[in-house]
Amino acid sequence: MNLVLMGLPGAGKGTQAERVVANYGIPHISTGDMFRAAMKEGTELGMQAKSFMDKGELVPDEVTIGIVRERLSKADCDNGFLLDGFPRTVPQAEALENILTDLGRKIDYVINIQVDQEILMERLTGRRICKSCGATYHLVFNPPASAGACDRCGGELYQRPDDNEETVQNRLEVNVKQTQPLLDFYQAKGYLKNINGQQHIDQVFSDIDSLLRDLK
Ligand code: AP5
Ligand code: ZN
Repeated sequence: MNLVLMGLPGAGKGTQAERVVANYGIPHISTGDMFRAAMKEGTELGMQAKSFMDKGELVPDEVTIGIVRERLSKADCDNGFLLDGFPRTVPQAEALENILTDLGRKIDYVINIQVDQEILMERLTGRRICKSCGATYHLVFNPPASAGACDRCGGELYQRPDDNEETVQNRLEVNVKQTQPLLDFYQAKGYLKNINGQQHIDQVFSDIDSLLRDLK
C-alpha cells in the first residue's frame, strides 16, 4: 500500500504513522525525521534544513524532493510506504506523481488528519519525545508513567527545538497557507480520505485502520 499522511503540525501524523507501520509493515518516511537525522549527523543537508526548520519555514522544494526521490527508490519501499509530512506543496505533489510514475507506482490513499487549529498549539508545546527510541508523548494527553522518562525504554524525554510557542505559530501559518491547494489537488485525483483527528488517539487509529483493511 502506497500512502500519504497529511495534517497540520501537531495533527497526529507521527503518532498515527508509528501505529500504521507497526500493523502493516511498510516503511515510515518522514521528511521531518530525515532532516532531523541529517542535522544530528552534521551533514550539509542537515545544516541547510536547520536554517529553515528553526524558523518554522519550509525547506526548499528542490532539496526536499531530492531526498524523497532517493528514499522511495530503495528496495524496502517495493511493497509500499507511508509518507509523513511530504508532500507539503503542490510542486512537491506534482514531483511525487512523476517519481511514482517512474517507479511504476501510484498512491492508494492520501489520509488527511483534520484537527482545528486552536488545539494544535497546546498539542505541540506539550509534546515530549524519547531521545533513545523516538516515542512521542504529551504532558497532558498522553503522559509517560513516570515524568521525564520513556515508558518503553526508560530513555530521557526532550522537547523539539521547533516546539516553542513562537516557532509553532509560524509553522501553523506557513502550513495552513499550503494545505488547501494540496487538498484540492488530491481531491481532484480522488485519493483524499479525511479522518477526524480530534478523537482519542486509539479511535483515530481505528478509523485509519478500517480504511486500510480494504487495501490489504
Ligand atoms: P515535521 O517533523 O513533519 O513536523 P510537523 O508537520 O510540524 O508535524 P509534527 O511532527 O510537529 O506533528 P505530527 O502531526 O506528527 O503530530 P504528533 O503525532 O507528534 O516537520 C518539521 C519541519 O521540517 C517543518 O517545519 C519544515 O521546516 C521541515 N519539513 C518537513 N517536511 C517538509 C516538506 N515536505 N517540505 C518542506 N519542509 C519540510 O502529535 C503532536 C502531539 O499531540 C504529541 O504530543 C501527541 O502525543 C499529541 N497527540 C497526537 N494525537 C493526539 C490526539 N488524537 N489527541 C490528543 N493528543 C494527541
Ligand atoms: Zn524510548
